[in-house]
Amino acid sequence: MIIFDESRKIFRLDAGNASYAFQIDTANRLRHLYWGPALDTTDLESQNLQRDFSVNPDFDPNLCASPRMTFLWEFAPNDIGTYSPATAIVRNADGNTVTDPLYTSHRIFAGKPRLAGLPATYVDSDDQAETLEITLVDAVTKVEFLLRYTAFRDLPVIARSIQVTNKGDKPVDLLKLASMTTDLMYQKLDVCYLDGYWAKERTFHREAVQGGLKVLGSTRGFSGSTMNPNVMLCDRNATEDYGRVYGVLFVYSGNFAVEVDQNALYRTRLNLGIHPEGFTWHLEPGESFQSPEALQNVSDQGFGPLSRAWHDLIRQHLINPQWRTAQRPLLCNNWEAMHFDFNREKLLTLAKTAKANGIEMLVLDDGWFGKRDNERCALGDWTPNTEKLGCSIGDLSDAIHAIGLKFGLWFEPEMISEDSDLFRAHPDWAIQTPGRPLSYHRYQYMLDFSRKEIVDYIFEKISSVIEEAKLDYMKWDANRQMTEVGSFAWPAERQGEIAHRYMLGVYDLYERITRRFPTMLIEGCSAGGGRFDAGILHYSPQIWTSDNSDAFDRLAIQYGTSFAYPCSTMGAHVARNWFAQRYSPIQTRAAVAFAGTFGYELDLNAMPPEELAEVKGQCDFYHECHHLVDQGDYYRLGNPFEDRVVAWMHVAKDKSEFLLTVVFPRLDHAYTGQLLRLPGLDLDASYTDGTHTWNAKMLAYGGMDIHDPGYGDQQSIVIHAKRV
Ligand code: DGJ
Repeated sequence: MIIFDESRKIFRLDAGNASYAFQIDTANRLRHLYWGPALDTTDLESQNLQRDFSVNPDFDPNLCASPRMTFLWEFAPNDIGTYSPATAIVRNADGNTVTDPLYTSHRIFAGKPRLAGLPATYVDSDDQAETLEITLVDAVTKVEFLLRYTAFRDLPVIARSIQVTNKGDKPVDLLKLASMTTDLMYQKLDVCYLDGYWAKERTFHREAVQGGLKVLGSTRGFSGSTMNPNVMLCDRNATEDYGRVYGVLFVYSGNFAVEVDQNALYRTRLNLGIHPEGFTWHLEPGESFQSPEALQNVSDQGFGPLSRAWHDLIRQHLINPQWRTAQRPLLCNNWEAMHFDFNREKLLTLAKTAKANGIEMLVLDDGWFGKRDNERCALGDWTPNTEKLGCSIGDLSDAIHAIGLKFGLWFEPEMISEDSDLFRAHPDWAIQTPGRPLSYHRYQYMLDFSRKEIVDYIFEKISSVIEEAKLDYMKWDANRQMTEVGSFAWPAERQGEIAHRYMLGVYDLYERITRRFPTMLIEGCSAGGGRFDAGILHYSPQIWTSDNSDAFDRLAIQYGTSFAYPCSTMGAHVARNWFAQRYSPIQTRAAVAFAGTFGYELDLNAMPPEELAEVKGQCDFYHECHHLVDQGDYYRLGNPFEDRVVAWMHVAKDKSEFLLTVVFPRLDHAYTGQLLRLPGLDLDASYTDGTHTWNAKMLAYGGMDIHDPGYGDQQSIVIHAKRV
């Protein structure tokens, strides 16, 4: 519900169990008032701090600059004395950057509009959300800002974006546009973020918010593995089930910046938007720019409810609805088994063993096209290598389908190898700046997806392979990130637009592929989990979480990822014990992968027989209870960085069953077990796994008796119990 209190000029947005409020001040600027648990009042003026060092009660709010840096802003103006990171910066035709748009009108309506060309959350029916659109106009330049807020009815989430239109008669340049600004007025906040690297993606970090500006973001052209566009601010004493936690999530896959700026008065600014570094957008009169969508979420009971609200939002309002409840095919990917060294016979042998053990799909990874026998060549040459395969891709697909498996293929649509027919024909198709050498990464460049003709070409090439191979699944990889960003197709004043235009091209290709092949499942990937974000999830409901499938390392990677992203989005496979040169029992590798989309990525035929013997049972278990992972509520019960046991739980929405997983990362001779309290249960019920029966109150208040089941590192316990 969205209320406008005309007398106080206050907007209050109620979303799920939360409220958010702001006010039009006497100068017609927007000032933030409140973000927290649901309110039943608009009597919020006391929240509107007006402090002025000059102790002058008569200051004219239209002209006096000094109090402005003390206000809480909802849209932070630039260069009028706020002295803090602005929401937007426009370079006007005369060269200055004063950006001070004022309220002119608003409207409130049911439902949520789509964002043209951009991924965004959606509703199934208009009663699931309400939208507020506020128009602000800069009086001098006539640049208009249309601020959109959608409050979801059942979740404490608000979706925000800004559309900027040049309504003046002179061109302007947008130098910065955050999709959202919020000012919080609390001391003792912590900031939590997920940074990382290849094979170490989304590592949870938490630290005190200190004075000054901290920018968490990416300028890699991709959201990237070094920082995820999911940031939380929380009370310093917040835990999984205690304290206020604010979360923001960006529905975007390119450069982003989260600005956390605390001043000496303990006003903490939170901006989220496209990273201003390297970004400009030229707006001729009449032209518009649409920001990507930012999402905000709040919990008053710690991190757990915040994460569960994100999970519900992503599953119900972001991913392709056909994958909300449909069980994903249990797959075997050939990459780590074969790399580039495969042929029809090897693939069919793997397929037969996979089928015999309950696996449902074979995925042929990199190396099936052009002359791609190593990573140095052929990206862009999307013609199946029939010589290497020993048949056409259609015949191979038929043979795999005849075995009774679905069939998937790997692509890297956005990339081009220097050693490729495509690059020889179109060297100008790579992203580059004139006169400078192209930096390569993994021997490849990026295609200039800011150009529609290049996206068109790739769409046609890839579509014909998908058609011929009758693909059930596509793995969409992207193994490098941007350098020397530039395009031959755009004029000098638009070179600052290339990184964003590239991302619009990526979304356009995703949109076209999903429309043309609506039942094909797409799994995103970027050198592992280097582009794991809500933008990609809009098109591909699962993303390869990391190239690192070591069970121990994955505990931390999946733990960090779970703060915003549901387990059903995390590609997770049982792999062989090679990555960290460490031994993990097959049961534990499976238990950890089970908390994701689940599959195998190893040569089943080379597995020790006692390990292969486990696979069939694991696949049966997948069909028995993976719906809890995909659709249930997720509870983190241990922190892999601190605790002796790492545990998590999936509980059915109706509390009728649960799946508890406990991993003991290291053998601990002195560990004699513990009582692990289990949240989320039906307290009036009992649960049984067929062997034991537990009273739910006893599990919730006392705890389940947990002890290390064996001798060695990384033992694990998995319990699937149903309400009696
Ligand atoms: C990187 C991916 O993360 C791997 O899973 C694999 O697909 C390789 N690329 C193939 O080149």
